[in-house]
Amino acid sequence: MDIKKLISEMTLQEKCEMLSGYDFWHTQPLERLGIPSIMVSDGPHGLRKQAEAADHLGLNESVPATCFPSGSALASSWDKELIQEVGTALGEECQAENVSVILGPACNIKRSPLCGRNFEYFSEDPYLATQMAKHHILGVQSQGVGTSIKHFCANNQEAMRMRTDTIVDERTLREIYLAAFETAVKEAKPWTVMCSYNQLNGTFLACNKELLTDLLKEEWGFEGQVMTDWGAIKNRGDCAAAGLDMEMPGTKTVFNNEAYDAVISGRIKEEALDKAVERTLRLVEWAVENNKENAEFDKEGHNQLARKVAGECMILLKNDGCMLPVKKGDSIAVIGEFAEKPRYQGGGSSHINPIHCTTLLDGLKELGADFQYAKGFSIDSDEIETVLFDEAKQLAAGQDKVIIMAGLPDSYESEGYDRTHLNMPPNQIALIKEIAKVNPNVAVVLSNGSAIVMPWLDDVKAVLEAHLGGQNSGGAVADVVTGKVNPSGRLAETFAKRLEDTPAYLNFPCHQYKVEYREGIFVGYRYYDKKKMDVLFPFGYGLSYTDFEYSGLKLDKSSMHDSDKLTVKATVKNVGATAGKEVVQLYVGKEQEEVLRAEKELKGFEKIALNPGESKEISFILDKRSFAYYNVDDKDWFVEEGDYQILIGASSRDIRLEGQVHVIPDTKPSFTADRFSVVKELQDLGRSTETLTKVLNAALDNMNQGDGGALSPQMMQAMVQEMPLASMATIFPDLMSEETIAKIVSEANGR
Ligand code: BGC
Repeated sequence: MDIKKLISEMTLQEKCEMLSGYDFWHTQPLERLGIPSIMVSDGPHGLRKQAEAADHLGLNESVPATCFPSGSALASSWDKELIQEVGTALGEECQAENVSVILGPACNIKRSPLCGRNFEYFSEDPYLATQMAKHHILGVQSQGVGTSIKHFCANNQEAMRMRTDTIVDERTLREIYLAAFETAVKEAKPWTVMCSYNQLNGTFLACNKELLTDLLKEEWGFEGQVMTDWGAIKNRGDCAAAGLDMEMPGTKTVFNNEAYDAVISGRIKEEALDKAVERTLRLVEWAVENNKENAEFDKEGHNQLARKVAGECMILLKNDGCMLPVKKGDSIAVIGEFAEKPRYQGGGSSHINPIHCTTLLDGLKELGADFQYAKGFSIDSDEIETVLFDEAKQLAAGQDKVIIMAGLPDSYESEGYDRTHLNMPPNQIALIKEIAKVNPNVAVVLSNGSAIVMPWLDDVKAVLEAHLGGQNSGGAVADVVTGKVNPSGRLAETFAKRLEDTPAYLNFPCHQYKVEYREGIFVGYRYYDKKKMDVLFPFGYGLSYTDFEYSGLKLDKSSMHDSDKLTVKATVKNVGATAGKEVVQLYVGKEQEEVLRAEKELKGFEKIALNPGESKEISFILDKRSFAYYNVDDKDWFVEEGDYQILIGASSRDIRLEGQVHVIPDTKPSFTADRFSVVKELQDLGRSTETLTKVLNAALDNMNQGDGGALSPQMMQAMVQEMPLASMATIFPDLMSEETIAKIVSEANGR
């Protein structure tokens, strides 16, 4: 396609039309110039292609597709290769259905556990989220199918999602909310980015030039196309000028005229439209070039992949007395309606029409387990049903072990609204407590898309977080509880003890359309760590049926410039009797700090498989960004000089190895002294001068001669050090004249 030529041949009206999709799921074709239309469809964890009657609310059925575990589950695998494999499978399914772009991954930060869409999102940590997004994109796009990383950005709640104004400071935005997108955009190059509904500091994302043009396209070098979330358009001409390329779904005339008039009246330059059209045409070109005719995919292969992946995502949260896995010959009571009606995905635009569905009962049968089942409760009711309760208790009392399948019903979490609490339905809580009274060997298996509280935790021996595990979650739970698969998932978000403990508690969801991210950079474990709070289960946590030992930490340097790279190595050994996988996590911390920062931040992780007795050395490479913070005055990343802790562990609260490196920055934030510069600031920055020291000493001498009782030497010292130069001139006019100030300022600025 000669895109420039095509654009030159288009009329203004045709360009205006091209700024919008054609309908719900297609781009605008232009027959006259031979420009075809391509199809986009939801994701992210399965293909939701609506054939005929299109709606994005999930009301109309979509074509059957493999439903993989949802985003929150996938991130709990901490497995980059695995998520890439899922991406590849998604790409194959898109090719088979002639879908050119799958709408995902969704990598918004889990700011509050209450966000209704947390089941779709990866993590509270931007590094983990962006790594997951990157590998999802690499997988899908390896098949010649595009992705749409979403929802860009700071869209972390459902309440008023089409209207809220997210008020967030620039450093937090860069270090947390944009960082979740940054690496994925730069390194995996998604074909498209989907801008979110909300406003960011007063400007809707769809017409946010600072974000769409200055940052995404220019600073990050994004070459793909930017489309709106469905219905996020504000005004087609203005949005195009701000860097939006395509409105979705397609609207016909309303906004066409608006863009047309804006150009005719000279308010918007036609080149702005050309740029947007060029990106859409490039997207169409990529899709056409990569389209595979008559593609097919292996349905059963994908179903088995869904099972494998779900198993890798599950997190063993508690396992007293090695209650799990159940042993051969154990008689088992399976209780809870989720065992026959699994909840394996969330509601809304990501809802897949699955090809298969395996229940836990199917899975256990297949593995030849000795079990009996009682329903115990109805998923869609909060009420205790006495007959079901009694039947379950009776069954549980007579068996060796009990597996209770509990969790959140669909109505408890969904796209479109946020949760208001972290509880499970009361009937399920009561049932768990009652069953634990008649049988001491209870394992609870959870089906939920986001964090919950567990008032029953002390009553049971084992807890397995099975998430919303996709269409074969039943098979996967059977694999894990019977020991066929050793659980290796780790929490991608902290489970707090109570809702009131969570970082955004006081500022969620919003007040009069505004939500202020007052916790700043202290999201998730960054908050709990800094406040030294106890949590239910920390970020990065998860048990295994085996144990791992860490040793041999090696740093290839003890001191480095921030332009250097640091190689960190550590050895992990499986010291148990079962093969298993460990997620080795690397955090960077800094004890002495000038700039406020988290105690530690995740900067690397690797998942490794080890047979009993086997050990492996893993290695991580850290660079400037691993140590840097975002400086809003200079609008760039800087490293503070100092000693940094290199922490290797099995979770954010289980650090096994600790090393240290001294980092020297090559560049420092700019600083210009003036007459209001504070003495201490000049001293800390190494900008104090001989003239200043003389004045200072003289000032202290002066003060010493006064009434010795009122001012201690420490207080005197502190008082002068905290003074701006100009104030010293007021308090000590004999020592500090305007000329002396000018001299100190000039010396401090190196002139
Ligand atoms: C959702 C997007 C989705 C789109 C299309 C929107 O309401 O926020 O995630 O891709 O609909 O269904």
